[in-house]
Amino acid sequence: MTKPVRKAVFPVAGLGTRFLPATKAMPKEMLTVVDRPVLQHVVDEAREAGIEHFIFVTGRGKAVIEDHFDMAYELEATLQARGKAKEYAALMADLPPAGATSFTRQQAPLGLGHAVWCAREIVGDEPFAVLLPDMVTMASGARGTRCLAQCIEAHRAHGGNVIAVEEVSPEETHQYGVVAKGAERAGSFEITGMVEKPAKGTAPSNLIISGRYVLQPQVFDLLGKVGKGAGGEIQLTDGMKALAATQAFSGVKFDGATYDCGSKAGFLSANLAFGMARPDLAPTLRAQMRKLLGE
Ligand code: UTP
Repeated sequence: MTKPVRKAVFPVAGLGTRFLPATKAMPKEMLTVVDRPVLQHVVDEAREAGIEHFIFVTGRGKAVIEDHFDMAYELEATLQARGKAKEYAALMADLPPAGATSFTRQQAPLGLGHAVWCAREIVGDEPFAVLLPDMVTMASGARGTRCLAQCIEAHRAHGGNVIAVEEVSPEETHQYGVVAKGAERAGSFEITGMVEKPAKGTAPSNLIISGRYVLQPQVFDLLGKVGKGAGGEIQLTDGMKALAATQAFSGVKFDGATYDCGSKAGFLSANLAFGMARPDLAPTLRAQMRKLLGE
């Protein structure tokens, strides 16, 4: 029987150089999509998928992340004293239960694979999820769930390891991890190979690894051994590739929308999409966009 996926790892130790100077003194994961930090959207997705324990791999200058997922007594007392019951209730609803979060530090940004490896003692011997906070997903597809829930469904059905993928144009594949596609099944397909940042024209498909994973704990030992890969970093893809020698991997093409909030255009698009999904904001936003487009 497949063990349930209870824990999720959020690697948040990167430097966020693409968003300087905004990220000089503030973690990029705390930039907001409408009124929620990017990381809060991703934690929401994990909670909806049934995750019970949230493991953050942080680094220097990221302490505010720990504060965000804790109580804020002064603020909460002030909201209550001023009769702001709705705002208070919203904060309480977002607060993870006591003991449901863990924080560890990566110490040096040696790559995503290394960041995930840093969570090995907290995860222990059970399957776990990884969510890259750069990617924010929206349940806009027919299945009505966000990406991690769809990955966990595939894990329930087939066990092993699961990677969410997304289609891009063949000219873009060299910037990403790319999978090779095997047999198709209901809701997922078999992955027959993977490569991190393939040289132009050599990618095995146009399906890129898009920031949500369900992995078996054996990946930790392999991540400890793989060494530096593409870009001089310890790559998660290299650890998964080593694991694929002995374990099955499934791919899930997410039925919904994904926004790459690690890029400026993706981040701005996410703000527009999430803003337009809010009845309190959509009419004003639509009018503003019409004006900007000169309509
Ligand atoms: P990115 O490479 O997109 O993040 O890694 P970055 O380095 O913060 O961003 P730029 O390119 O300089 O703007 C994807 C995710 O992996 C985490 C990042 O925090 C991000 O959420 N990461 C990356 C780590 O936690 N540690 C690392 O060593 C590298």
